[in-house]
Amino acid sequence: MATILTLAGDGIGPEIMTQAIEVLKVTDRKFDLGLTLESGLIGGVAVDATGEPLPEKTLEQARNADAVLLGAVGGPKWDAIERSKRPERGLLKIRSELGLFANLRVAKLYPQLANASSIKSEIISGLDLLIVRELTGGIYFGEPRGIRTLDNGEQQGYNTMVYKTSEIERIGKVAFELAQTRAKASGKPAKVCSVDKANVLEVTELWKQTMINMQQADYSDVNLSHMYADNACMQLIRDPKQFDVMVTGNMFGDILSDEAAMLTGSIGMLPSASLDEDGKGMYEPCHGSAPDIAGQDKANPLATILSVAMMLRYTFKQEQAAQAIEQAVSDVLDDGLRTLDILDSSEPGLTQVGCQQMGEAVLAKLSAPNGDTP
Ligand code: NAD
Ligand code: IPM
Ligand code: MN
Repeated sequence: MATILTLAGDGIGPEIMTQAIEVLKVTDRKFDLGLTLESGLIGGVAVDATGEPLPEKTLEQARNADAVLLGAVGGPKWDAIERSKRPERGLLKIRSELGLFANLRVAKLYPQLANASSIKSEIISGLDLLIVRELTGGIYFGEPRGIRTLDNGEQQGYNTMVYKTSEIERIGKVAFELAQTRAKASGKPAKVCSVDKANVLEVTELWKQTMINMQQADYSDVNLSHMYADNACMQLIRDPKQFDVMVTGNMFGDILSDEAAMLTGSIGMLPSASLDEDGKGMYEPCHGSAPDIAGQDKANPLATILSVAMMLRYTFKQEQAAQAIEQAVSDVLDDGLRTLDILDSSEPGLTQVGCQQMGEAVLAKLSAPNGDTP
């Protein structure tokens, strides 16, 4: 018996979570997984209910659960409150408290969506890219940080970008090993591109050298390359298929993954897994709470549904169940169903659907006896 904590959060969080939970329940029944679901509060809704973006009770629930599924947090309602109480701080704290240092963000193009991206289809066709983002260190957590008043009365904001060798080594290990696994599955050479600003920042000079040392000592079968973050942003658009696994720090990974999302058609398609050293994880879409479309049944629930597949794959080692969900997503795309963010209005035969209808269509595919297509 395993327990999953669901944290819907704010904005479109509850809408996408409702659909993902149904998918999880049906998959649980179909594959006899023995899952129990529990829900909790995080983000702005938690601030409203308890005064804290990550109440102690939620943290306790998360520690006791086998995995966590998260929607999204944040929104204009909480943007002006004291910094330590903002919804985003709740998300950062749960990542840090649970030790979820390895964030895997998969940018895989479903071929049905080749025309939904703003990038030419020949540049992205066949794309399957993994960004390994360090998630509990770097400039997001470095001290000192704050806003101070200088002697002349002017204010100054400051943050500190820090990485210890041990932090770089543990995320490097994840990247090298995933590159090896992916190479075994694809038959292609294992490749890791480490993204840094070693030309400017000492912290990333250490990052780069540590990656080189690791490759030489333990991963000589993996082809390691290095790229400055600014060039990497450009190369992702110019020729994204040159990359297989990209490994980088917290902030560069945040930025590169939103960019990579557009290669798949929409940020609404990008799932993620955030793992600790034992493979326990929190799973969440890469996008935010999308306040501009919240409550309108317009959100794309597929990134969250695909995050459920990642949960079954990484935490529960249920590859078959994970693939069933990914196949169901592919099947509804085959049927031409599109939420607004992935709708290409020039393509004939597509049907615009809302968040709920998209979720229900995935469910229908999953519920069908094997081989049937409803
Ligand atoms: P966002 O990702 O919420 O939205 C950016 C754009 O993408 C918006 O136009 C939105 O409508 C669209 N979009 C996002 N997800 C979508 C989906 N599933 N389907 C269709 N369209 C989608 O980023 P933002 O606007 O910069 O941030 C909004 C709030 O979310 C902020 O408070 C931010 O801090 C927070 N945020 C939270 C997370 C998280 O919880 N992991 C991630 C990013 C941003
Ligand atoms: C993400 C988000 C978060 C981040 C914010 C909301 C703290 O943008 O999950 O990508 O920057 O990590
Ligand atoms: Mn982000």
